[in-house]
Formats: sequence, C-alpha cells, structure tokens
Amino acid sequence: MTIEYHEPPSELSARTRDLHRAYCSVVEEFEAIDWYEHRLDVTEDEELRSLIKHNQDEECEHAAMALEWLRRRVPALDAQLRKYLFTEGPLTEVGHGEAKGNTDGSLGLAKATKGEKA
Ligand SMILES: [Fe+2]
Repeated sequence: MTIEYHEPPSELSARTRDLHRAYCSVVEEFEAIDWYEHRLDVTEDEELRSLIKHNQDEECEHAAMALEWLRRRVPALDAQLRKYLFTEGPLTEVGHGEAKGNTDGSLGLAKATKGEKA
C-alpha cells in the first residue's frame, strides 16, 4: 500500500517527501504485521507457523524503527508518544492524570533496576 500525495510532489519540500516515505513505511510494516497475524491464525504446520511468527516479529522491529525515525522529526508526534507509550490503565484517562507514565522521557529503567515497578 502506498499512500498517495495530496498535493503535487514537485511542490513539496524534500523534508515533507521524506516524512511521506516514512509514514508509508510505517503503514506498510503494520500492514505486514496484520497479514502475518492472519496467516498465523490459519497455518497448521508448526514449522511454518514458527517461520511466520519470526517474520512478523521482524516487521514489528521495522515498524518501531520507522516510527522512531518519525518521532525524532515530528515534535507533535514525539509529544503524543511520550504521553501515551508505556502507560498503564485506560488510554482515555492518560491525559487526565489517571494512567501512570514516565514524564521525564525515560523508559523508567532506573526505577526498575532498583526493584521498583517501572
Ligand atoms: Fe518490514
């Protein structure tokens, strides 16, 4: 799946075209993850299921890498990912101070290594 441009590409900046490529990549990686999930549901051969699961896991890595590339370049996306990722509880409550997240931008690993729940 390729997401079409909504304006003539020649009128877009190089940065916007690169962002478009990355957004397309994220969509394609998640699409592949979804396809593999479907195949996992119906594949009965265990060795083939293992191969499909391996490939699906690699697509997860690709999706995460493309998303991180975008996060580093789109401040509003960075802010939302920092707000929602690695939280617990109802997502609709994250903005209301109900869910616990790491507001310092860390992954909370320092807490975890001290034996506390991150
Ligand atoms: Fe991929």
